[in-house]
Amino acid sequence: MTQRIPLIAGNWKMHGDRARARALLDALKPLSPAQGEVAVCVPYPYLELAQAVLGGSAVAWGAQNVAEWEEGAHTGEVAASMLAEFGCGYVIVGHSERRREASEDDACIARKLAQAIRLDIKPILCIGETLAQRQAGSTHAVLQAQLHGALALLDSTALTRLSIAYEPVWAIGQGQAATPAMVGDVITALRAMFGEAGASVRLLYGGSVSAANCGDFAALAGLDGLLVGGASLRGDEFTAICQRFCTRREGRSLPA
Ligand code: 13P
Repeated sequence: MTQRIPLIAGNWKMHGDRARARALLDALKPLSPAQGEVAVCVPYPYLELAQAVLGGSAVAWGAQNVAEWEEGAHTGEVAASMLAEFGCGYVIVGHSERRREASEDDACIARKLAQAIRLDIKPILCIGETLAQRQAGSTHAVLQAQLHGALALLDSTALTRLSIAYEPVWAIGQGQAATPAMVGDVITALRAMFGEAGASVRLLYGGSVSAANCGDFAALAGLDGLLVGGASLRGDEFTAICQRFCTRREGRSLPA
């Protein structure tokens, strides 16, 4: 039986300022769920602050993006080696906002994943369907195609460091999460796609997660954590999500 440690990750996106970042990091620093990992993915300029405040705590930090190249003339890009210098444990790759706003395609995302793995930074790969794709009944096919493209450059050892966040595009920032039944259906399909080779891959859900609904997701077999956007910007709410998810999850039997 493969034991996967739960992961609750916050995605601050492009919110806040230095003072708010400091206050939030201070609030999260004591977090230490007995049975799980907690990470916050902050804007690049606050990585040094995250390292200073969270260093030595049980809370990891990371970035929301990484360059697809090792180094060179790429104005405005940030290399995986630079993230490593600031102690990043995690990096979000392929978020739907970047797929849409920065035109990231699966081939680009595959190169970004390879860069993160090369520097030993654990990637959180985001996949998810649009509302039109769900309504057309193509959710599983879309997710399979995204996975196939994104994982093209990774070998099986890299899978042990990979987390995948199922983030339906239509549930992000809407205050209306996917239902546990929908998430459960996708998680079952993803586990089947990976099979035994991917038994160590952590599967997360993201999209309007709150302290109120996180317990429902913790009960889902095969789901290992959450990627939290808006609710990760409030220390008390994010703390409650971490504690509730990990406590509820401990109460259920872990699937292989
Ligand atoms: P919200 O939790 O604000 O819906 O954002 C989800 C998300 O995009 C996390 O990456």
